[in-house]
Amino acid sequence: MSEHTTHQKVALVTGANKGLGRATAEQLAALGMTVLIGARDPQRGEEAAAAIGGDVHAVTLDVTGPATIHEAAKQVEERFGHLDVLVNNAGITGSGQVSPQDAVDQIPSSVELDMVRAVFETNVFGVIAVTNAMLPLLRRSPAPRIVNVSSHAASLAITSDPDGPLTNLPSSAAYTPSKAALNSLTVQYANELRKDGFLVNAAAPGFVDTDSNNHSGHLTPAQGAEILVHLATLGADGPTGGFFSADGPVPW
Ligand SMILES: NC(=O)c1ccc[n+]([C@@H]2O[C@H](COP(=O)([O-])OP(=O)(O)OC[C@H]3O[C@@H](n4cnc5c(N)ncnc54)[C@H](OP(=O)(O)O)[C@@H]3O)[C@@H](O)[C@H]2O)c1
Repeated sequence: MSEHTTHQKVALVTGANKGLGRATAEQLAALGMTVLIGARDPQRGEEAAAAIGGDVHAVTLDVTGPATIHEAAKQVEERFGHLDVLVNNAGITGSGQVSPQDAVDQIPSSVELDMVRAVFETNVFGVIAVTNAMLPLLRRSPAPRIVNVSSHAASLAITSDPDGPLTNLPSSAAYTPSKAALNSLTVQYANELRKDGFLVNAAAPGFVDTDSNNHSGHLTPAQGAEILVHLATLGADGPTGGFFSADGPVPW
């Protein structure tokens, strides 16, 4: 790229039709980026893009659907030619829209294995599938950034502390291990891509008021999105292979 060419930054946020993803999309657009709202339901995606306005476009993307992932990557290539930011935000709890205290269907000794599989399919395998499909486009960015939306629940240091802040929650064999696996993946991608200038980090947004916890969270989506946006816009001297909340590094 010539020094005189301006590079318009393009960001893709998965699961961006609502909740944290949508707030992240809104903030990235406000920073002047072209933002692609990944949504598995095209209509919900279009509605969110229209509501945000500006240079924001919907892309149909089900992170568990190889055909839509492939088609989304093709569309991004044809319309924009490259990608600078990928926020792997799409995720499910597995228990539906309940507050974490009520997620008793993931208790390890009685969990349905199919639920564990479904959660890993979205929260872990979906991230690998989307990331790998988008990597050729990210490699065309002068400063590629990948943000994996994790959770404080992913922290083995926090969850293994019997006096820790999450001890009141039911044990989980699905959501919590899926986010711990996502943290491990974050480090593995960061290690592989460090030499290519990628910064790959995991974010813990905090307890955010969204459908996923039946609106029991105490932070607004805009507040929760701040650390995602920070990690999506890191300068060249920023960290890679880390795990961060708005308060700083989160123990693994
Ligand atoms: N809220 C919190 O307190 C909290 C805390 C820690 C981490 N997180 C994480 O933050 C992320 C966003 O969650 P949220 O709280 O904003 O929940 P949310 O409001 O339920 O949003 C989840 C988003 O993911 C999308 N999604 C789910 N499965 C998908 C799939 N297979 N393909 C594409 N999109 C899919 C949903 O699309 P539909 O509208 O089509 O269902 C929706 O857009 C998740 O990874 C979650 O684990 C949230």
